[in-house]
Amino acid sequence: MALLPILRFPDPRLKKIAIPVSRIDDTIRKLAADMGETMYEASGIGLAATQVDVHRRVVVIDVSEERNELRVFINPRLTCCEGLQSGEEGCLSVPGIYDKVERAERVAVDYLDLDSQPQSLLAEGLLAVCIQHEIDHLDGKVFVDRLSQLKQSRIRAKLTKQAKVTA
Ligand code: NI
Repeated sequence: MALLPILRFPDPRLKKIAIPVSRIDDTIRKLAADMGETMYEASGIGLAATQVDVHRRVVVIDVSEERNELRVFINPRLTCCEGLQSGEEGCLSVPGIYDKVERAERVAVDYLDLDSQPQSLLAEGLLAVCIQHEIDHLDGKVFVDRLSQLKQSRIRAKLTKQAKVTA
């Protein structure tokens, strides 16, 4: 396994729309394993392939306290959403920034597992938020895009400045 570099907002590659995985082979299995390792190393609860500059529809999530329930979603697709919740979100691609985002309270998601089997999952609360956040990444969106224009430009300015200092 290997740690993968994570793209930082406002990197334009975060806007790319990921394409579906047509065949789940060793390359995809290695990608998922590396993404899991990268997510745990960065203390995140979710990571989309877009964030490691691979534009395929692959997401890893672990919202468990013990950090031992890795979930891999290939070609995830929301099939229903209901209710509304609003909570603070952060993102490994937007370090140090947290803000409130409105999301559906409950979602249903169809996806393939690593054995190419179709799966369906009903999720609520934090897991539902995380699934919506990661599918947004596959569609080229970060949570910052869901904030006001004023907040977006402040965040963009702050992170661009940070990148210059650390470069
Ligand atoms: Ni994110």
